[in-house]
Amino acid sequence: MTATDIAVRVQGVAKSFGGARILDDIHVQIAAGTVHALVGENGAGKSSLGKIIGGYYVPDEGDVTVHGTRVTRFTPRDALGHGVAMIHQELQLAPELTVLQNVFLGQESNRAGILVKGDLERFHALEATCDFGLDPQARVAGLRIAERQKVEIMRAIARDARIIIMDEPTSSLTEDEAERLHGVIRRLRGQGKTVIYVSHYLDHILATCDNVTIMRDGRVVRTAPIAGETRKSLVDSMLGQESDILWPDLPPAPGADVAPVVELRGVSTATGLRGIDLTVRPGEIVGLVGLVGSGRTEIARALFGADPITAGDYLIGGERQKPMTVTRAIAAGISLVPEDRRKQGLVLTQTTRPNISLATLGAVSRWGVIDRAAETLRVRDMIRHFGIVPGHVDGKVLRYSGGNQQKVLLSKWAVARPRLLILDEPSRGVDIGARQRIHEFIVETARQGVAVLLISSEIEEVINLSHRSCLMSEGRIFAEEPSSSLTLESALHRVFLEQNRNAMQPEVAPS
Ligand SMILES: Nc1ncnc2c1ncn2[C@@H]1O[C@H](COP(=O)(O)OP(=O)(O)OP(=O)(O)O)[C@@H](O)[C@H]1O
Ligand SMILES: [Mg+2]
Repeated sequence: MTATDIAVRVQGVAKSFGGARILDDIHVQIAAGTVHALVGENGAGKSSLGKIIGGYYVPDEGDVTVHGTRVTRFTPRDALGHGVAMIHQELQLAPELTVLQNVFLGQESNRAGILVKGDLERFHALEATCDFGLDPQARVAGLRIAERQKVEIMRAIARDARIIIMDEPTSSLTEDEAERLHGVIRRLRGQGKTVIYVSHYLDHILATCDNVTIMRDGRVVRTAPIAGETRKSLVDSMLGQESDILWPDLPPAPGADVAPVVELRGVSTATGLRGIDLTVRPGEIVGLVGLVGSGRTEIARALFGADPITAGDYLIGGERQKPMTVTRAIAAGISLVPEDRRKQGLVLTQTTRPNISLATLGAVSRWGVIDRAAETLRVRDMIRHFGIVPGHVDGKVLRYSGGNQQKVLLSKWAVARPRLLILDEPSRGVDIGARQRIHEFIVETARQGVAVLLISSEIEEVINLSHRSCLMSEGRIFAEEPSSSLTLESALHRVFLEQNRNAMQPEVAPS
């Protein structure tokens, strides 16, 4: 390879935070016009290496060269000057602005920063490459995570980046959306651009990338062509040992005569749910299967009292709730682990200790005084159980890697022991080891008699970890099956079929 064939060359890079060395002697070459994967366990240093290349972190040692030019100043603006843009794991958009404004933020054709007609034309040209189907005038605050991710991707492309770093780009996308994103990535590669692709979805990596760098504990294990790798070879190198993916055994399902913890009867909401019938019994895990926008998160929110119910009944322990509110849900022992951990659920400015014990201070308090020693013990327990890194109770959550933030969030609810636990995308962004522990946690929680509602874009996860699956489309549950009778293919097929059937029927008959 000549110097110009190499988009990014990282030589001997090291980085420490507060005495902890998080990147050590990193050497990587990324060929121009390729899709280059970074893989590794949570906390291995993938995002940090991306941030150095993207100008968000300054390396303590070593050199970074971009298309033959040595980088001397590490700021995102300088990186953009070299043609490097980064799409973060935790998205960074201005929620009050529209899609169009966000895509062209800071580069509007009008000098005063006001968008003009030309910008709309540019947007449509971009849309031709991306085919994301975003409404340019929609406000970002109202968009789902998957759509926000698309806005970030369009913004990077709009900035004419030659090198785009995508940190976990598919973590909130469904399989078909991920496939479309991979189409976009291949098109970018076809135009000679370089994509650095960070992900825990090894199947996506095997299908889309040209080369892979495997990281472990802040070091590079190896960089190699993807053609010579398998799922197993990647996982073994990430973990530094032989591995096996196992699904834990479920406890037996409770009988139909067991009284449900919660029950929805013909429930509709302003958020698009229509006539939902749903029961979850103690010790039962019920899974929701559907594409993004099918209403899975909306069911979670309705059960948690976050969105008002406009028709139908909501019963907890057989008693009708009216009106249902978040306060009542919490009082009734309902917990929600939300899909957007950044915005909800975690207090990022705090340390691990209060984040885990916040929900359960009652349990470690006597007469309103927190028993610090008891609290520390519980928090330590959770840190060990989920393998949270860094492992001290007073670590700053804001500085944790994405996957470790997720583990903290789950710990919070693990100590709470609710009656109904709603998990919305519980294993998004966590590595194989932590995923396994989360799966065990879900099954163990049910074994203790907790009712569990499981939502995941990974259909395999839902059908392997639940007793019953509700298949959803367009705000409705159109089928309910024992999960053991479903396969990934059959579930996906039915969800798609239903979606297309709906698309061909007019929603409301014209009057
Ligand atoms: N600004 C920071 N201050 C202190 N520690 C940091 C900072 N940024 C990263 N770290 C630490 O560096 C280590 C590597 O984090 P990084 O985010 O790069 O991991 P990752 O491989 O992207 O993990 P994940 O898969 O969970 O996203 C972690 O232990 C993290 O806590
Ligand atoms: Mg990361």
